[in-house]
Amino acid sequence: MNQSRPPKTPTTFHVKSFGCQMNVYDGERMAEMLGAQGMTAAAEGLDADIVVLNTCHIREKAVDKVYSDIGRLRREDGSRPMIAVAGCVAQAEGAEIARRAPTVDIVVGPQAYHRLPDLIGKAVRGEAALDTDMPAASKFGALPGRGKQSRPTAFLTIQEGCDKFCTYCVVPYTRGAEISRPFAAIVDEAKALVDGGVREITLLGQNVNAWSEEAVGFDGLIRALADLPGIDRIRYTTSHPNDMTDGLIAAHAEVDKLMPFLHLPVQSGSNPILKAMNRSHTTESYLAILDKVRAVRPDIALSGDFIVGFPGETDADFEATLALVEQVGYAQCYSFKYSPRPGTPAADMDRQIAPEVMDERLARLQAAINRHQVAFNQAMVGQSTSILLERPGRHPGQIVGKTPWMQSVHVLAEGAAIGDMIDVDIVSAGPNSLAGQLVRRKAA
Ligand code: SAH
Ligand code: SF4
Ligand code: F3S
Repeated sequence: MNQSRPPKTPTTFHVKSFGCQMNVYDGERMAEMLGAQGMTAAAEGLDADIVVLNTCHIREKAVDKVYSDIGRLRREDGSRPMIAVAGCVAQAEGAEIARRAPTVDIVVGPQAYHRLPDLIGKAVRGEAALDTDMPAASKFGALPGRGKQSRPTAFLTIQEGCDKFCTYCVVPYTRGAEISRPFAAIVDEAKALVDGGVREITLLGQNVNAWSEEAVGFDGLIRALADLPGIDRIRYTTSHPNDMTDGLIAAHAEVDKLMPFLHLPVQSGSNPILKAMNRSHTTESYLAILDKVRAVRPDIALSGDFIVGFPGETDADFEATLALVEQVGYAQCYSFKYSPRPGTPAADMDRQIAPEVMDERLARLQAAINRHQVAFNQAMVGQSTSILLERPGRHPGQIVGKTPWMQSVHVLAEGAAIGDMIDVDIVSAGPNSLAGQLVRRKAA
């Protein structure tokens, strides 16, 4: 750690999260915890006494971003805030971070951030402040409760870690083994979020649908949460095809509050590549799941993740991925160039793919994905739907809400407020959002 200039005790903080929604959730919990310590939030990193960079290790670019951010944390007068590196880079690189970036004062892993206040104390005293323990006892119990929320939507982490060990992925190493939070703790947190003004909860986990507790499966948890008064919408992400149970599929038919949206990453449309990825599903078994879901919920919006350029991916393998995209007709997708990650089996595989081949494949895949996304959005034009108003839009009086299918809708909603559920007619659609018109209710 940097011993050259013991930092003063911080009174203001700034948390910046990179990566997945679970990191967003962790960032919010860290901010709430520092707030409970009497610190106040600063809008910008350089205005804060301590900056927490809540990092992502999933691809090389994500890691590079962290180090360039650290380099930029210097004020004009030469001073700098105290710097804490949290999240998956902290877990993966540990003490190495302070060697590469000597201005880093604190390194704290994703399962240890409840100890951030102690680590700040250590850094102030000029002691080494590193904690990448993965305690079996959960950090959640050590965090302050959820209070008033600034938005009507909230994330709630219910499951952490991954036992799947896809050959390209760092998550099993950075987040540890799969654990499920206790049912009662989740229900309590959901109730607190509702009391804090939340109407929509997104349940989170690296493999969220692997959640279980004794006799209760993930669908049982969803059903219990749907019974809570005040919750209007439930979503979940990210799911793994292997944990897509019949009970969960049935919940999509039976639980009105469960939104018709499923993010189910497939990664590739080629069975040999899926095997090399250790995905443990085939294209056929994946498509069979989607058929089952569509049979009970024909309007479900589907989403996925894809990796192009996995080692050994041939033109034919890639064409199979394009064919899968055509067959499924996704509402939206994330797609990435394969990034070799230190310590993962795929990083040492033969036949790594040249960057220019990856670029070309990614461009073709994204063009196909965009085409389907535009078509999915266009199909909404002329329909009416309910939207939950989430945030102010760019123009005066404009508010942005979400459809049940996760599309953003811009609407001039006079008399309505953020947090309201309103009915709109969809009047136009672009690739990334829709425009809606308030449905005028006739006076009774
Ligand atoms: N648990 C989820 C997602 C984890 S990471 C799942 O199993 O689907 C989110 C996405 O990042 C993955 O779905 C994958 O598409 C992508 N990803 C993971 N490791 C990667 C790597 N080494 N290179 C490129 N993309 C990667
Ligand atoms: Fe990574 Fe695979 Fe686990 Fe998803 S299931 S987090 S891609 S190892
Ligand atoms: Fe990144 Fe860690 Fe999430 S590596 S994607 S922040 S689990």
